Amino acid sequence: MKHTEQIYLTPMPVRIWHWLNAFGIVTLCVTALQIRFPDYVNIFGTYKAAIRLHNTAGVVVSISYALWLIYYMFVARTMLKLYVPTLEDIKSGLFRQAFFYFFYYFKGGPNPHHSTPDSKFNPLQKASYLVIMFVLLPLVVFSGYVLMYVAPLREIFIVIGGIKTLVSVHYLIACCFCAFLFVHIYLATLGHTPFAHFKPMWNGWEEEEVEDELGAIPGAEPVPVTEPHAAARHSSTTETA
Ligand code: HEM
Repeated sequence: MKHTEQIYLTPMPVRIWHWLNAFGIVTLCVTALQIRFPDYVNIFGTYKAAIRLHNTAGVVVSISYALWLIYYMFVARTMLKLYVPTLEDIKSGLFRQAFFYFFYYFKGGPNPHHSTPDSKFNPLQKASYLVIMFVLLPLVVFSGYVLMYVAPLREIFIVIGGIKTLVSVHYLIACCFCAFLFVHIYLATLGHTPFAHFKPMWNGWEEEEVEDELGAIPGAEPVPVTEPHAAARHSSTTETA
């Protein structure tokens, strides 16, 4: 038998950052299409308007990134615990999670990872978010700012191999972001319902289906939770199977 538990997974600052960042990145991708293919794409009127909007979205993404860093490093102090894969994750967790997504999920098997406030991400999420948030996002922001201020940053251009190299790097990272977006949104729909993982990004609370220990008695009082994050977890006796 299963019952559902409500877990407070995503604090408000993270939710605000996430949607600001998502809106900014989508704007960057769409405006980039017009900037890269001006002869074929005209969504924003003029070429100049597309560049202005692209630059503004870039500034929004970089500011929200800084706020995300400050929040996780100095306020929540959970960045390393949440985002860095453990040795166990690397040795077997990555494979187990990939096996679930590619095969076990389609056979109706349960997700091997159960999110808690202390371990929100499965090993694949940790690995991909680590690359996105600590390598690709800083790189795309840095290359974007350098391209925005071509003249005063002439010396940096010379060191990194000229404007063409920089434009290519910026463009390749943008392609990675587009690919990430599709995979990210698809995988986010693989909860116990298609919107189960979207809910905590909206109101903070995730509903988890949990197997009853020693067979819970229907209608009985929920057992008090004694783990560290008990305050962030509400057990409900609703039976789902
Ligand atoms: C329209 C675009 C997007 C949608 C619909 C979306 C949706 C979601 C959903 C449902 C989650 C929670 C489930 C999960 O952890 O996988 C999530 C978390 C996350 N997403 Fe996105 N996302 C979008 C864009 C982005 C972008 C552009 C980035 C990074 C550049 C990003 C980075 C993240 C991160 C790091 C988390 C974990 C946040 C945390 O709890 O600390 N997302 N997203």
